[in-house]
Parts: sequence; structure tokens; C-alpha cells
Amino acid sequence: MKIGDRIRVYAPATVANVACGFDILGFAIEKPGDELIMEITAEKGVVIVDIEGDGGVLPRDAKKNSATVAIQDYLNYINADFGCKIWLKKMMPSGSGLGSSAASAVAGVYAINMLCKEQLTKNEMLPFLINAEKAACDAAIADNVAASLFGGFILVRSYEPLDIIKIPVPEELWCVVINPDVIVLTKEAREILPKEIPLTHALRQSANVGGLMIGLLRGDYDLIGRSLIDYIAEPHRSKLIPGFYDMKNAALESGALGSSISGSGPSVFALCKGQEIANKVGDAMKQVMNNLGIGAEVYISKVNAQGPKVLPFLD
Ligand code: HSE
Repeated sequence: MKIGDRIRVYAPATVANVACGFDILGFAIEKPGDELIMEITAEKGVVIVDIEGDGGVLPRDAKKNSATVAIQDYLNYINADFGCKIWLKKMMPSGSGLGSSAASAVAGVYAINMLCKEQLTKNEMLPFLINAEKAACDAAIADNVAASLFGGFILVRSYEPLDIIKIPVPEELWCVVINPDVIVLTKEAREILPKEIPLTHALRQSANVGGLMIGLLRGDYDLIGRSLIDYIAEPHRSKLIPGFYDMKNAALESGALGSSISGSGPSVFALCKGQEIANKVGDAMKQVMNNLGIGAEVYISKVNAQGPKVLPFLD
């Protein structure tokens, strides 16, 4: 690596929680995702040159932006005697429930690690990303960052010590995500959750996590659908999302296996068997938003197995 080296990377958006797995399950999707260009500088520290596509809402202060917080942690860890500057292109709004801050942070550490000849493993980089989530939404959560960094479907089995398990997904599993034109801040969506839950809810929630894991491993789509129930977050957060239950019901009536809130919302996801059903489900969910006069983007893809990747320069 030398001064002036550059790289352009992409890191995917994610669906966290996946109904029954509050703060412990997540998966990456193909689109949207953030793009980031990084250039190595002789000066130490990290500088944000430009952020495009965020409507000016994200912090330009490198101590507060999730991407630069994570990159700075990386540089400190390797004792770097150089720095970098970045250009960030946001492809999703913050407060969308698509892991926006996570995708930026993953793009940042992935870029610096590639320029540094992959000095660190993904497991070694994960704590920097969790720290970046703390800076962005005041909660040190791993579900979005781990899913974007590792790609695929992940289980955060333990936070201390960190133990990330990648779960295989069946071939015909498709995901629909609808992002309505509404902002829900993760910090606020966490504050409305009760600090304690009834024992019966804890039992049902953990039974569904077990069911979902086995359904994914066996390719048992019916079991996947039966397990996509959330007793912890959805009952409280659904009120932050206009038309949530209408979207969920429209998805189920159109053949989705199950549907719930993506991350802390307002995005809503549905898992489906096959692309044809996923397309129908996407149309039905979008129709609900149209009826309410709320703009919305729909993303349909398989689970993104790859995670972040290097992109060619366009110039
Ligand atoms: N698991 C986190 C939450 C994800 O639901 O608050 C934030 O997008």
C-alpha cells in the first residue's frame, strides 16, 4: 500500500431481526447498498470529502459518521502512520430500517482492509463496526453490521464474546423489502420497547428462532413461515409504520411465507418461496402504500451471499 492508492467498494443493505431474532438475526440483500471511494493520504486521520445522496443529513464530522468512526478504529488498531479520505454515496436513507449506517461502516472498513492487503479478518474488524453503530444510533448492535460484512444470513449467537454463525439458506428463498417514505430513527424505535418481556413471550420467541434456523437448514419453507413471528419488537414498533398490518396482510395473502419489520423500520420485509411469488408480494405491498399516498421503493432479491465487494472505477 502506498500514498495515493485508491479503491471503490460496495456494501449491501440488510434486514435485521427477521421477525423472531431481535438483535441476533440478520441477512444481506442485493440492493440497495452504499458505495465508497477511499484514497490513502500521508496525513494521519480520516477525512470526509463528500457524501452524496443523504440530503445533507449525515454528519460530516469524521468523529460522528459511522463509516469514518469504523475506519479510524481500524487505523488505530494497526498503528497506521498514514490516513485516508473518503467519498460516500448513499443509496438508502438513514432511518430506513435497511442498515444504512451499517452499510457505510462496512464499506469503510472493507475498503481500508483491501488497501492494507487484508491485514485483518472479518471477525477482527467486527468490533470496529459495532462501535460505529454505537456512534450512529446509540446502541452497540451487531445484526446489521455482521450481515453486511459477512454476507448471507447470520446469527449473533453471543455478543460477549462475539460469536457469529452463518446460516445456509435454501435455494428458492427470496426476499421482498419495501421502504416507505417515512423516517424511523433506531434510537427512538429502541426507546419505545419495554425493558422486560413476559416469560411466555421469551419462550415463544426462542422457540421461533429455533424453528427458523431448522427451517432454513432443512429448506422447510412451511416451518420458516410458521417461525416468522415477533413477540418483542413488532407489537410496539408497528404503530410507527403507517399501514404496517395492511402491508403484512397483503404480503401473506399474496403467498409470502411471513412478513415483519426490517430492522427498526419503517421498511417491511417478506420472505417468499420463488421469484414469481416475491414479485406478486412486492406489488401487493406497494399497492397498500399507493392507497395511503405514501411513496415507497421495493427491492426484491435472494439473500446476498457475498457481502461487500470491490467495484471498478468509472473514470
Ligand atoms: N436490531 C436493531 C433494532 C436493528 O431492531 O433496533 C436496528 O436497525
